[in-house]
Amino acid sequence: MATVEGPLKTEPRKLEQLVFRAVDEVGATLNAALVVMGDKLGLYRALAGAGGLTPVELARRTAVSERYVREWLNAQAAGGYVEYDPIGGAYRLPPEQTVALTDESSPAFLPGFFQIALGAVIDSPRITEAARSGEGVGWHEHNHDVFDGCERFFRPGYNASLIAAWLPALDGVVEKLRDGAKVADIGCGHGSSTILMAQAFASCTFVGSDYHEGSIETARRRAQDAGVSDRVRFETVAASSVAASSDHGDGYDLVTMFDCLHDMGDPVGAARQVHRMLAPEGTWMIVEPMAGDRVEDNLNPVGRAFYGFSTFLCTPASLSQDVGLALGAQAGEARIGDVVAGGGFTRFRRAAETPFNLVFEARP
Ligand SMILES: C[S@@+](CC[C@H](N)C(=O)[O-])C[C@H]1O[C@@H](n2cnc3c(N)ncnc32)[C@H](O)[C@@H]1O
Repeated sequence: MATVEGPLKTEPRKLEQLVFRAVDEVGATLNAALVVMGDKLGLYRALAGAGGLTPVELARRTAVSERYVREWLNAQAAGGYVEYDPIGGAYRLPPEQTVALTDESSPAFLPGFFQIALGAVIDSPRITEAARSGEGVGWHEHNHDVFDGCERFFRPGYNASLIAAWLPALDGVVEKLRDGAKVADIGCGHGSSTILMAQAFASCTFVGSDYHEGSIETARRRAQDAGVSDRVRFETVAASSVAASSDHGDGYDLVTMFDCLHDMGDPVGAARQVHRMLAPEGTWMIVEPMAGDRVEDNLNPVGRAFYGFSTFLCTPASLSQDVGLALGAQAGEARIGDVVAGGGFTRFRRAAETPFNLVFEARP
C-alpha cells in the first residue's frame, strides 16, 4: 500500500541558502559562455597588459560593438574576472587573470576548460534525449567546441607534466625513448600528447590514432606546424582494431592512452589490442581523470566537474560503441586495474598523479 506523506517540513534558512547558491551557479553557468566569448573575440588578449581600458577603448581595439563589450565587461567584473575602477570607468585584467585567460602555455590556462564545458552543454538536448532511450552519442557527433576545448584544456597539463614527471615515473621508459623507441598514442584526438613526446624524443617514431577522422586530420596539421611530421604518423583507426591495422604492427616499446580509455565502448578489448602491440618488455601508460574508487571519494569540486563531463561526453561516447561498458570519467584505479588485467596484463600500478589526473603503468 502506498504511504501518504504529509507536507514537507523545510528549514527556511537552508532553503534560502540553496536559492542563493543557485544564483551563484546560474552566474557561473552563463560565465562559461562569457569566457568563451571573451576568448573568441580577443577581449582578454586586448585587456592583457593594457592597464585600464574603457569599454569604448576595448571595443575599438577589438573591433567589437561597444554596447556588447560594456555588458560583457560588467558581467566579468561582477564575477571577479576583471577589475572595475568606478572613478575612471576603466576595466583591467589583474596579473593572475591575465595568465589564466591568455597564456595558452600556462598549466593554469582556463578558456579550453570552459570551451569543452560549453560545448558539452550546447549538445545537452541530444544527451537528454539519449538518456530516455539509453542509446549512446559518439564523440564524433559533438560540436567543434568539444574537440578544440578538449585539446586546449588538456594540452597545458601535458606541457607541465608529461615529459617532466609522467614519463620519468615509468620504469625504464625514458632511457628507451632517449635511445630511440617505437611509440603508439591511441585515442590521441588532436595529437597534442603525441607531438609533445615527438618534440622531446627526436630519435623515436610515433603513430597516433583515433577513431575520429576529423580529429586525425587536425592532428596531421598540428604535426606539420610543429615540424615533426617526419617522425609522427596519424591514422584513423579504432582502438578495437589497432593491433590488426597494417599501419601499426607490433613491437612497441610504449603505448599511451590519454584520457580516452574510459570513453571507449570496449576498454577490455582495447587492452587486449595493446597487449598484442607491445614488445615483451613494453609499457602501457594510461592517463585517466583523477578519481577515487567510491562515489563518496569523488563528491568534491573536481569530481563534480568530471561527473558532469562524464554525463554529457564520456558515458554517451562509450554507450555509442560495441560492448558499451561505460566506465565513466570517474572509474577510479580499481576498475581501471580490472580492465587492464582483463587485457592480459600482469603488472599494474599508479605511477604518478596530479590534482586532475591519475597515471598508470601496465606491463605484460
Ligand atoms: C577526451 S578525448 C582525449 C583526446 C586526447 N587523447 C587528448 O588527451 O587530448 C577522447 C578521445 O578518445 C577517442 N576515442 C573514443 N573512443 C575511441 C575508440 N574506440 N578508439 C579510438 N579512439 C577513441 C575520441 O575520438 C577522442 O578523441
